[in-house]
Amino acid sequence: MIQITDFHKRFNAGTINEVYALKGIDLHVHTGDFITIIGTNGSGKSTLLNAVAGAFLPDVGAIAIAGKDVTFERDFERARYISRVFQNPYTGTAPGMTIAENLLMANLRGRAHYPRISLNKKLMTQFEKEVSLLEMQLETRLDDVIGTLSGGQRQALTLLMAVIRQPKVLLLDEHTAALDPKSSAQVISLTRRFIEQGQLTTLMVTHSMQQALQLGTRTVMMHQGRIIEDISEREKPGLTVDDLLDKFAELRKREKLTDDIVEQLRREYLISNDYC
Ligand SMILES: Nc1ncnc2c1ncn2[C@@H]1O[C@H](COP(=O)(O)OP(=O)(O)O)[C@@H](O)[C@H]1O
Ligand SMILES: [Mg+2]
Repeated sequence: MIQITDFHKRFNAGTINEVYALKGIDLHVHTGDFITIIGTNGSGKSTLLNAVAGAFLPDVGAIAIAGKDVTFERDFERARYISRVFQNPYTGTAPGMTIAENLLMANLRGRAHYPRISLNKKLMTQFEKEVSLLEMQLETRLDDVIGTLSGGQRQALTLLMAVIRQPKVLLLDEHTAALDPKSSAQVISLTRRFIEQGQLTTLMVTHSMQQALQLGTRTVMMHQGRIIEDISEREKPGLTVDDLLDKFAELRKREKLTDDIVEQLRREYLISNDYC
């Protein structure tokens, strides 16, 4: 479904602020793969998702989606078949519009021509059914503006809007990191359900190694702009967070990583552990 080939990206190239964010990424994502992505801060996880979404051109390299070379296709064009959910629950929905109006927009997204559609009874019944799947007591509040919802409710709705038109690719960038533990667990369980039901090809960045292992069919580890480990579906079950940390430790032994990195990961894991 997604073929990324020798993808390099430097930001602010040639200046003192130059950052070599992606250093030759090769990644083949099969249709229906659900890949969780972990890695140190600044290792290029979000940049990788942005590359798939088409936020910038590569310096070198190519990207193909569903058999088509999209390297030069812009992000707004790719948005017809790629959905994204970000960390901030306030970015995915229009706050001044109602739940129903937001869902209507999500339903119209990606169409070549916008049909004249109003919020008729049939649509409202459909939305009621879809929103009830979220189990967040929102089905009676379709006429409420989004701004009145909690962060967890908003993020659940953003997720529903992202999957409602069955995107070819779903990109999730730490989409539960800003939520309280209970909402995070709810949104994770919805994520799992939507992806399984829709067999959605998904890339999900997570700050939690636990989440990375519990979810998805494959796990990719990034460090300093490179993919340093790609854990297959066969290898994943039975793997523990300690195993993952050992993998980083092994890499360190092979001098790919410094001691600090393993320590940083251990610390990040201990902090995020409560949130799984
Ligand atoms: N648009 C941008 N302009 C300049 N630097 C950027 C931009 N996007 C990301 N970076 C830099 O690229 C590196 C990787 O960032 P990012 O992919 O956001 O890391 P991660 O998501 O793994 O924490 C960081 O050093 C970051 O500051
Ligand atoms: Mg990031």
